[in-house]
Amino acid sequence: MNQDQLKQLVGRAALDYVTPGQIVGVGTGSTVDCFIDALAASGIAVAGAVSSSERSTKRLQQHGIRVLDAAEVTGLTVYIDGADEIDHQGFMIKGGGAALTREKIVADLAKTFVCIADASKLVQTLGRFPLPVEIIPMAAAQLTRRFAALGGSATLRAGVVTDNGGHILDVTGLSITDPLAFEAEVNQWPGVVTVGVFARHKAQVCLLGGADGVRTLSF
Ligand code: A5P
Repeated sequence: MNQDQLKQLVGRAALDYVTPGQIVGVGTGSTVDCFIDALAASGIAVAGAVSSSERSTKRLQQHGIRVLDAAEVTGLTVYIDGADEIDHQGFMIKGGGAALTREKIVADLAKTFVCIADASKLVQTLGRFPLPVEIIPMAAAQLTRRFAALGGSATLRAGVVTDNGGHILDVTGLSITDPLAFEAEVNQWPGVVTVGVFARHKAQVCLLGGADGVRTLSF
């Protein structure tokens, strides 16, 4: 199976976590696109979805799935999203699609984060994938210096403005051995909107697609 087929496989597998009448939290990315398509094809009559991006909202609505504002719900049973990296404890790097802030907001509403990913995303230590950080543009130079002090090299993602009007720094050269401490530290730097380490909002379940099919990891 190629990577696209693995994404479709885990997108379909995530349907096991969706029940009729439920409002489901929906992430962003090519793997989530597969989940949205599978949900539409499944005939499971969800009450609606809370979406983490304009991209996912558009796709959900094209399928006739109602999209609710985050403010319309008090909580969600499940949030389904992809990841750029996930480790063996369910900690993740996210934001390759620049949707990390809304992803963390919707994840915060949910009891269970179900990560859907192909096996290439599973890592021992987070940091090989350039870490996305949504920032206020004015802080870019100072934040670049702060990451350099941690051994990272930050680059502004050219031409990208997030759904919230923010900019994205991509940081290479980091080895994130303590994701909880790293997330807490970077989150309090002035000008950081959201850091793409999902540690406090880690996955409880990961559906990992590989040559042998879907492996379920629970954390
Ligand atoms: C979006 O901002 C990201 O967090 C995605 O969830 C992540 O980049 C995974 O995307 P793919 O499913 O396209 O690999």
